[in-house]
This record gives sequence, structure tokens and C-alpha cells, in this order.
Amino acid sequence: MDKIKIVGGARLNGVIPVSGAKNAALPLMIASLLSEETLTLDNMPRLRDVQQLTHILSNHGVDYSVNGKRPGQDALTGQTVHLTAGSIVDTTAPYELVSKMRASFWVIGPLLARMRQARVSLPGGCAIGTRPVDFFIEALKDLGADIDIESGYVVAAARNGLVGGRIRFPKVSVGATHVVLMAASLARGETVIENAACEPEVVDVANCLIGMGAKIEGAGTPTIHIQGVEGLHGHRHSVIPDRIETGTYAMAVAMTGGDVMLEGARADLLESALDTLRQTGTEITETNSGLRVRRNGSGISPVDITTAPFPGFPTDLQAQFMALMTKAEGASRITETIFENRFMHVQELARLGAKISLDGQVATVEGVKTLTGAPVMATDLRASVSLVIAGLVADGETTVNRVYHLDRGFERLEEKLTRCGASIERVSG
Ligand code: UD1
Repeated sequence: MDKIKIVGGARLNGVIPVSGAKNAALPLMIASLLSEETLTLDNMPRLRDVQQLTHILSNHGVDYSVNGKRPGQDALTGQTVHLTAGSIVDTTAPYELVSKMRASFWVIGPLLARMRQARVSLPGGCAIGTRPVDFFIEALKDLGADIDIESGYVVAAARNGLVGGRIRFPKVSVGATHVVLMAASLARGETVIENAACEPEVVDVANCLIGMGAKIEGAGTPTIHIQGVEGLHGHRHSVIPDRIETGTYAMAVAMTGGDVMLEGARADLLESALDTLRQTGTEITETNSGLRVRRNGSGISPVDITTAPFPGFPTDLQAQFMALMTKAEGASRITETIFENRFMHVQELARLGAKISLDGQVATVEGVKTLTGAPVMATDLRASVSLVIAGLVADGETTVNRVYHLDRGFERLEEKLTRCGASIERVSG
């Protein structure tokens, strides 16, 4: 398995192009199941999760093609992909495929809406908590589906088609909001979602569905109204920039010091994280081409954070922020409220010399003067990249094992960081 080797100490200076958002790209690809016409997606990131989802969608009968490189494009320019679900040949999403990526469970919404039946494997356990699917099941029942769990599969049927309904999620769920948006777009009558996720990726998916002919109002607010339509048509849509990738590189620059332009980044997608970074002593300015992130000379001030649904501080940046706080001039408290087991990076950061104590959902980080390189490993995507951030300032060499996780969600990470002066390379093994 490949490893990433980092020699800490270099400041980051230069330009990093921000890729299309993984968490928008995945549900957008799934939305292609709703129409027999072609959905074209621009600014698609080249990621393992995207590749994995193409396997799942092909199994349902979706044709997938990627445009070749055009003049003026380089390896970091987003791709254009075409997805056509002319006819859906299989409404089962098997365990072997769904277990590799949790978001593939979301195919249940469009399959049920268009084909009136779906058999989708339960996604199973996950490194960051139990992540159940009860909200999805209750919501689809509210839209008139009959649902049984049989041998590890969710078997859903709506013999006469889905009907609009009123859904109130007990807790904000990004995935369940995506699924209801997609399913309700083809249901008969009106659906109202209360306590909907307001994440920018939900807005992006809603905008794409509207472009395909759906009638949706209120996406980006906690109450969404969807008026079901008979059918959806083809459309072309560009994926929003990845706010988590943006925040990750901003934190890397805050950590090493330097001056980096995050090209294509949008500040409105991550205000809360940017405000927090400013409090640590990092300068962030919006320009026409993106976000300029600078920290020169001054130390890193400690700041407390609590993760929360959008527009709060994203749980997907918690590990990266913790890495930054390991070098702060004082103590900070990091409270995780979204997932119950999302502190897997704590033990690994400790291997680099970080001082962190855990008490339930709260981590207290005591900043240290020096981190020291070591072999480390992480079991999820965001945790892995937090170790890269720490490695960028650790004395000596840090080896991050199981690079597999990074490839799921960060496009050409080592190339982007090398361009800015980091000493980081992939070692095959
Ligand atoms: C999505 C993101 C993930 C991010 C998370 C929270 C994608 C591909 N993934 O994951 O990167 O960390 O949002 O911002 O977009 N829950 C239930 N029952 C359910 C569904 C969810 O109890 O049926 C709970 C979860 O266990 C968790 C919380 O709700 O505690 C929020 O999870 P959710 O927003 O659904 O996360 P995902 O959509 O899986």
C-alpha cells in the first residue's frame, strides 16, 4: 500500500487550485438515476469515491463517459462527465459495492422514485461511528414506501409510486436530505422537509435538480418545499468548489506559515471555519480568483470550536483544526457534536508529540513548541489529512500510511502541496 512521506519545516507559498466538491459530486452523480436523459457534470474531481460510485451506477445501467483533456486544461482542471440512465436494468445495490462507500446507499431515493422499487444493502459500520439509516427509512415511509429489512438489505417498494408528505428530521442529516430531495422530485404532490440540512452541497444538488425540471423551493434553509413532477430531463451542471479541501489547505498554511492563493475557493461556503482561522492569527482575503491565506511570523493563537451543521464549524474540518491547535500558543477545546467517534486522529497526533486529552465529546489540546516526525496511520479521510498537516511542521520525517483514505477525497494532494514548496512524496509499497 502506498505511503506519503513528508519532511516537515517548509512554509507554503504559491497557488493551489481547489477541486470540485466530493460531497456534491457524489449525490449529483446519483441524481442522474432520476432521468432517462443525460446529466452532464462539469468541474468533477478525480477521486476514488467518484470512481467507486461509477461502478455502482453502472450496475444499475447508467452509461458513464468522461471528456478528454481540452486545450488549456491541465491535470488539475476539473473533469466533465456524462451520465445517462436510459433504462435502469437493476434496482439492487449489492453489499460488495455499497459497503465500500456509505454515500452509495443514497441510490435508494431515485431508484424508488423512478422504478417504484429498490433493494439496497445497509452500508454497515464506519470508522467514525455507527451512522445508522433510520432517518432515511422513516422519511421514505412518509412518502408512501413499504420498507422491510431482509438479510442486511433495505427492501423498499411503492407499488403506485411515491406520494408527497411532510417529513421532519429528528436531527440534521445531509444524506437523508439529499435522498428526500431526489425522491420527492418525482413523487405525486407536495413534500415539505423540516429540519433539512442547509449545507451548500444540498443547495448544489437542489439547483441541479431544478435545472432538470424539479420544483424545489427553500434549499439552503431548514424548510424545503418540493412539488413533484412527472419526469426530469437532461441538464448540464457545474459542481461547486470543495469547501472542505479549501479549509484543509487554509489550515495547512496557517500551520506552516506562508502565503497561498486557493484558486476557485468561495468564502461564502465556509465562513465559520474562516472566522475561526482568522482568530488564530491567519490573514484571509477574498479576491477575484479565490481566497488568499497568509500567516507571517506571528504564533498560532488557540481557539475553541464546536462542530455543528452548516453554517456552523464543519465536522469534516475538525481533525485538521485539531492538528493546527497542537502547535498553538496555549490550550483549546474542541467539541465534536455530529459523530460520536470522530477522534481517531488523537492517538496518532500524540505519536507526533501532540498533547491532547479526551473527555467524551471534548478534546483539550495543549499547544506544544515542537512536533516530531513519526510513522502514523489513520482510519478515515479527514483524520488522514490532519496527520499530513501536522507532518508539514514536524521535525524530521513523517510517514502517513494507508494513503488509500486520502485518495478517496483529496485530489492530487501531494502534487498540490509540492507546488507550494512542501517536501512531500508518495512512496509505492
Ligand atoms: C455527510 C458527509 C460527511 C459529513 C456529514 C456531516 C457526504 C458524502 N458525506 O455524511 O462528509 O461528515 O455529512 O456533515 O456528503 N444519522 C442518524 N440516522 C440517519 C442518518 C444520520 O442518526 O438515518 C446521524 C449520523 O449518525 C450523524 C448525523 O446524523 O450523527 C449526521 O449525519 P449525516 O449528516 O447524515 O452524515 P452523512 O450524510 O452520512
